[in-house]
Amino acid sequence: MDRAVTAIDRLTVVVPDFPSAGIMFRDLTPVFADASGFRAVVDAIAASFAGTFDAVAGVEARGFLLAAAVGYATGTGVVTIRKAGKLPRAVHRESYDLEYGQAALEIHQSDLPAGSRVLVLDDVLATGGTLVAACALLDKAGATVVGCGVVLELGGLGGREKLAGRTVHALEIVA
Ligand code: PRP
Repeated sequence: MDRAVTAIDRLTVVVPDFPSAGIMFRDLTPVFADASGFRAVVDAIAASFAGTFDAVAGVEARGFLLAAAVGYATGTGVVTIRKAGKLPRAVHRESYDLEYGQAALEIHQSDLPAGSRVLVLDDVLATGGTLVAACALLDKAGATVVGCGVVLELGGLGGREKLAGRTVHALEIVA
């Protein structure tokens, strides 16, 4: 865990005014691009939920990187939770609010065996809209969400509160 936090602190790049004015975007791609940093965050996430899950769901887009690696490292399957309109077969869909407008996430109806214990992964927890929708999709799919894992939580935006009742683990929480 310490190695992961050290890597996150050293490598995360804060980008002012992205994607819009006033937003301080925390770019984790340099953490993923660093061999030891990527290994440290993947190992720390896998350790946080060790033995509790038999599938990993990744949220588009950066959650895919984490889910694939954690799935491979732990010998579990990987499921993709995608932005609307990307998946070719029958889906469950969940809409959620953005600052301006709405978005939706989808999951294939038949990708998970019923009763699967699923760990949901994304890079960042901010307002929580994305992970709330992802968990709702997995509920619809008949899965048991064992928890949500993120590399970075932006505290103070209400995300953790929106996920009340879910297990949420962030490798690092920043204000
Ligand atoms: C970012 C991030 C999370 C989400 C967190 O994704 O990767 O998925 O926002 O925000 P929330 O907690 O307020 O919902 P983004 O919407 O930028 O999509 P992308 O990964 O496709 O770039």
